[in-house]
Amino acid sequence: MRIALTGKGGSGKTTLAATLARVYARRGYRVNALDGDPNPNLAAAIGVSDEQAARLRRVPREAILEERTDDAGHARLQLTRPLAEILQEYGATGPDDVGVLTMTGLLGAGRGCICGQHSAVRDVMEQLASSEAREITILDTEASVEHLSRGTVRNVDALLVVTEPYYRSLETAGRVVPLAHELGLPAVWVVANKVRDGRDSEAIFQYGAGHGFEIIAAIPFDAHVAEADQLGRSVIDHAPDAAAVAAIGALADVIEDRLGAAVRTN
Ligand SMILES: Nc1ncnc2c1ncn2[C@@H]1O[C@H](COP(=O)(O)OP(=O)(O)OP(=O)(O)O)[C@@H](O)[C@H]1O
Ligand SMILES: [Mg+2]
Repeated sequence: MRIALTGKGGSGKTTLAATLARVYARRGYRVNALDGDPNPNLAAAIGVSDEQAARLRRVPREAILEERTDDAGHARLQLTRPLAEILQEYGATGPDDVGVLTMTGLLGAGRGCICGQHSAVRDVMEQLASSEAREITILDTEASVEHLSRGTVRNVDALLVVTEPYYRSLETAGRVVPLAHELGLPAVWVVANKVRDGRDSEAIFQYGAGHGFEIIAAIPFDAHVAEADQLGRSVIDHAPDAAAVAAIGALADVIEDRLGAAVRTN
């Protein structure tokens, strides 16, 4: 299964990506967590140790993708080697054996755009399509609707659009959802995050009803999340019984059910 998270800045993409990664790993999945944010912080949210984090190096496109010509003479992109080897060379291993890769990074001040890195993310995700049934790849992205216009998230089984219950965040989701449908993504699901009360969830459901959102989960605002963040820890380690962690576990159930059903009917 390949899942990407998108949404407005600060909506909770990294927190949700990291916690989903840990939850699925504990359920026995082999989890690959790909950081597609050039200002990467997924490893910290997963709870990767400093020693492991020091191993992380941005994965260069040419080291992992190559064009090969098939028997029919068509040129096709392929991984140069199995993902496990790529993880070994460039990645880190987090708690519960979550594999972490940093896919993008800034080139330096005034050194230009990183479009090539984004296309590498898209192509790597495509290569992971035929992964084993008990393998999940989770892609965290930077806050930008460009992932949709560039097609970085084209090759996923589900796109989670994370939104907070305030207008500008909802408006971003309102732009992302139609673009994602235009890309032809098989599943585009909205996740409400930092929901404080009935009024917040009402705001999201009302906006969503008018904009064709399929809202699959509501994660409560939970001070433990910010607390964990301040301490540089993962919330699942810092406060395993936190309400947000439980709600992300329930989100993991929904995704597993829906994507599992899709696999069974294919
Ligand atoms: N459910 C929640 N309850 C309380 N605080 C939360 C919750 N989810 C996320 N946060 C806090 O919101 C802030 C942003 O979260 P996070 O970094 O996960 O968002 P993001 O969408 O990845 O941000 P960016 O766009 O900068 O990558 C962090 O301080 C985090 O601790
Ligand atoms: Mg983030």
